[in-house]
Amino acid sequence: MTLPYYISWCKQNSAATFEIESVDGVKIQTVGGHELIDMTSISYQAHFGHNHPVIIKHIKGQLDTIPMSSPKGIYPHKNEATYNLLRYMKKEHGKIFYTTGGSETIENALKIARDVTKKKIVLARRNSYHGATLGALAATGDWRNPAHLTPEGWVVRIPEPTEADALEKTREIILQTDPNKIAAIIIETITGGNGVYAGSEAWWKGLRALCDEFKIFLIMDEVVCGFERTGKSFGYMHYNVDADIICLAKGITGGMIPFGAVWTSKKIADYYEENILCCGLTNYAHPLGIAAMSGVLEIVQDQNFQKNLKHVEIIFKEELEKIKKIKLVKEIRVEGMLCAIDLHKSIDAKKFMKAGLYLVAQTNRIILAPPLIISSELLRSAMTKITQVIKDNE
Ligand SMILES: Cc1ncc(COP(=O)(O)O)c(C=O)c1O
Repeated sequence: MTLPYYISWCKQNSAATFEIESVDGVKIQTVGGHELIDMTSISYQAHFGHNHPVIIKHIKGQLDTIPMSSPKGIYPHKNEATYNLLRYMKKEHGKIFYTTGGSETIENALKIARDVTKKKIVLARRNSYHGATLGALAATGDWRNPAHLTPEGWVVRIPEPTEADALEKTREIILQTDPNKIAAIIIETITGGNGVYAGSEAWWKGLRALCDEFKIFLIMDEVVCGFERTGKSFGYMHYNVDADIICLAKGITGGMIPFGAVWTSKKIADYYEENILCCGLTNYAHPLGIAAMSGVLEIVQDQNFQKNLKHVEIIFKEELEKIKKIKLVKEIRVEGMLCAIDLHKSIDAKKFMKAGLYLVAQTNRIILAPPLIISSELLRSAMTKITQVIKDNE
């Protein structure tokens, strides 16, 4: 079908699309009566399913009061919601800069790091995705950043945490590059779409020590991992390591309103008391985003949500243990409700769609990130279907 708009990240003449008739919780009804269980929260943002009534209630309420963006406008709900976010993050001493999505969040984090340090270069991993805008894409190390798209010299790659002597090599790279030119290291707390790799606590602590030694900011990209995705409220809670800047998006509104947030440390917040914050957006702290975020914060702090989540996390692990036994499966990495299944040969995403599943399957890797509100019955049924499709591909 020829469309008047583009489909992202693919050749337009062979885009893998599907026509949505309606959505209900974690299910999508397609035109033609096919039902899909969403096993990747679409693009890792639908943490709370596709039409959560609590988020809808907050957005509708906001439409009836202050629906218009007003970057410098202050109203009680904006203050309360932000304090609530800071408490939930356990980062009360810092300050939030709001954005309209993940890439913009990274973009502003990079700008702030460069501005405060007056240094330009950023260190980042090869196995990473940080967003599609120029700065975020420059930091990105995967196939979406071919050399011709982003400026040269902005980003220097550091070794993957699994490489031998990763920290020593990172130190050498810092010295070779010149610490006086490096503003920040940016890292996904756990890589999302690039395979669910978490660095060890020792590696994270080593990175923090290098940042302290050379006065480099540590930016944690929590765009995928935030809001209960990986078995804790945030990915950084796995490591006991402080960031200078934390980037949030996706789950912050469960994908219902384009929104994001940059958390900065108190030191950075203090800097901007006396220096101009050269960052801004027409839709800064959009009331509909603030409202959707309030809905999310209500859900994640609800006992019933947490009870179901803990239960489905266990079932997810149990089912993955069964999948691990299939010959075609090479390795599985799982963190809470985020998982990568590596196979010995490639598998076509269309096979899963045919079986009633929406998920990410690229070459020989499957990524699963089910909505966190999924019931245990539906999760088991989806995992059984996944098992069958993998077995049929043997
Ligand atoms: C880890 C990570 N950071 C940043 C982004 C960019 O977010 P957005 O697509 O909302 O701009 C993404 C998007 O997938 C992501 O996975």
